[in-house]
Amino acid sequence: MEPLSQNAPIAVFDSGVGGLSVLKHLKHQLPHEHILYFADQDNIPYGEHSLEKIQQLCYEITHFLLSEKVKMVVVACNTASAAALSQLRLNFPTIPFVGMEPAVKPATENTKTNVVGVMATAGTFASERYASLMKRYAADISVIEDPCIGLVELIEQGDFENTAVSSQLDFITTPMLQAGADTLVLGCTHYPFIQPQLKRIVGESVTVIDPAPAVALQAKRVLTQNNLLATKKQTPAYRIMSTKASSNLQLFLEMIDVASSQNELVCWVNGRLQKSPL
Ligand code: DGL
Repeated sequence: MEPLSQNAPIAVFDSGVGGLSVLKHLKHQLPHEHILYFADQDNIPYGEHSLEKIQQLCYEITHFLLSEKVKMVVVACNTASAAALSQLRLNFPTIPFVGMEPAVKPATENTKTNVVGVMATAGTFASERYASLMKRYAADISVIEDPCIGLVELIEQGDFENTAVSSQLDFITTPMLQAGADTLVLGCTHYPFIQPQLKRIVGESVTVIDPAPAVALQAKRVLTQNNLLATKKQTPAYRIMSTKASSNLQLFLEMIDVASSQNELVCWVNGRLQKSPL
């Protein structure tokens, strides 16, 4: 395999628009890096697929991204990281990966009431990775979990002021607040988009933790350790790919102030990814 190039793009992938909440912070931390964003919107929501299915999707996506000659892969999805990150590292040992996990540790450090709410997908909650997080950091803390059924799909629609969003958030957070939670973890990269709506419901006294800034810092560290930071102060190019033709990515790109240099459709054909003209 050819050596990784310092001026190659970083790949960032998610099942949909969620990873853009991570891209927003990557852009801030790494303003000279080209980024290729990949949204597998044809298979969203990942949180409701089997572990094997998510592993297979992540394998194929990574294989495809490597063919695009990226220098690092950010798995900007808690569900995909929980299901597939260790396997991806084993299967693709030549490329550095950065993954995500619900910010349980910072939440346990922040809570004064010893009650924490975690919002994540069913897939993330069912994972060994999450079980190990709980064992390591939350043994003495009461954790109220909610798999937020349907919330990812609502967020994908981009209409955050829709009453369906506020009633869903109310339904999710009421048991957490009633149990005394003073800290909430956004354990899915889609949720930071509705943080203002969430704050309106839970009030300013509740801390809401989005791990994206920490993930962006970690991405910078990993690039530095691997001597892969861009060598030029280049104007970054953001290539955007989706597996679904009628994508709403543009709306979300505007929200995070990213102008895409290229939009591409990539199709699943017999379990493999193929580029097709938009
Ligand atoms: N954004 C993904 C995550 O962080 C999940 C969305 C989905 O279920 O597809 O977990």
